[in-house]
Amino acid sequence: GKGNYRHFMEKELHEHPAVIGDTLRQYLDPRTLEVNLPRLPFDPVKVPRLTMTACGSAFLAAQVGRYWIEHLARIPVDADVASELRYRDPPLPEGGAAILVSQSGETADTMAALKLLREKGQSVLAVVNVPESSMARESDATVLTVAGPEIGVASTKAFTAQLSVLACLAIGLGRKRRELSTLDEGRLTKALLEVPHKAAEVLERDAEIHALASEVAKARDVLFLGRGSLFPIAMEGALKLKEISYIHAEGYAAGEMKHGPIALIDSQVPVIAICPSGPLYEKTLSNLQEASARGGRIMAFTDAAGAPSLERFAERVIVLPEIDPFAQPILYAIPVQLLAYHVAVLKGTDVDQPRNLAKSVTVE
Ligand code: M6R
Repeated sequence: GKGNYRHFMEKELHEHPAVIGDTLRQYLDPRTLEVNLPRLPFDPVKVPRLTMTACGSAFLAAQVGRYWIEHLARIPVDADVASELRYRDPPLPEGGAAILVSQSGETADTMAALKLLREKGQSVLAVVNVPESSMARESDATVLTVAGPEIGVASTKAFTAQLSVLACLAIGLGRKRRELSTLDEGRLTKALLEVPHKAAEVLERDAEIHALASEVAKARDVLFLGRGSLFPIAMEGALKLKEISYIHAEGYAAGEMKHGPIALIDSQVPVIAICPSGPLYEKTLSNLQEASARGGRIMAFTDAAGAPSLERFAERVIVLPEIDPFAQPILYAIPVQLLAYHVAVLKGTDVDQPRNLAKSVTVE
């Protein structure tokens, strides 16, 4: 049941810290700070390319995974939504492998992509939450997320569990390929292990996020901006908002804004920035200044180091715990999901069962 929560989504949002912790503990050892890679259906050293595919939020997790794997393991990664990949007829390398991501393990397009990829000689690793699902059965190997059953149609804890698995996988692949030292591995796994308690701190910012939600609830259109591995998190914020509050939202790479979407900016459009300190902070900051100079209302999620510069022009700044940039996508998924939740509640929509949507899309 929902326990003391109003909706399954609210309950599941509050399960983030536990689920991230449970999932990480499956794939890394907190004592040695080493990743225990699950059995892989491909040789990490020889694999020429990885194809990642999924649908919806699971695809956004895959996109974060692509940034991580390319960066840490230096394996070229192609990522595309399953409904495109399956009809795109991409040239696939001999000895190539694929990583599929799915909460249910039953999504029709992802399942069809799985079959196609196997037919084309790719070995398939499935990251799924349901151990007895079709994808778990039909892939060459499975890695489980430990999110428990997710009832709300909007994916929340399954998403951060997917990110947790992909983060471990990226580190493990990086080690196997000797792109990362044991020292790097220790630093990165330590950062991951900080996520559960920092996630709990993020959930404690509920009142602030609720206040932000009352502004966002008045809007007709909302823009989410991020860069690098936080760009898919901007898209996750937009997807979640559309899905449960029915407000039109777009997630954009902050640097791409000046190539079109900046024309949308006026005092009516909230611009939600995912802009913590890190290697791309200054770049995102300057994109936000451009939007602000055009009358845009900037509302930023950042950390203590990122806050002072943002506070000079942003309408609202929500300061979240500091964490290594590597782990930021997991942590910053939480406030954007929580924001969507509060907006939906304020709008009075059916949060757990949004119109026209099903928890698992088993038709093409
Ligand atoms: O079960 P799956 O992870 O394969 O589902 C994929 C998408 O249908 C799903 O993530 C969808 O986008 C969510 N409702 C988003 O919150």
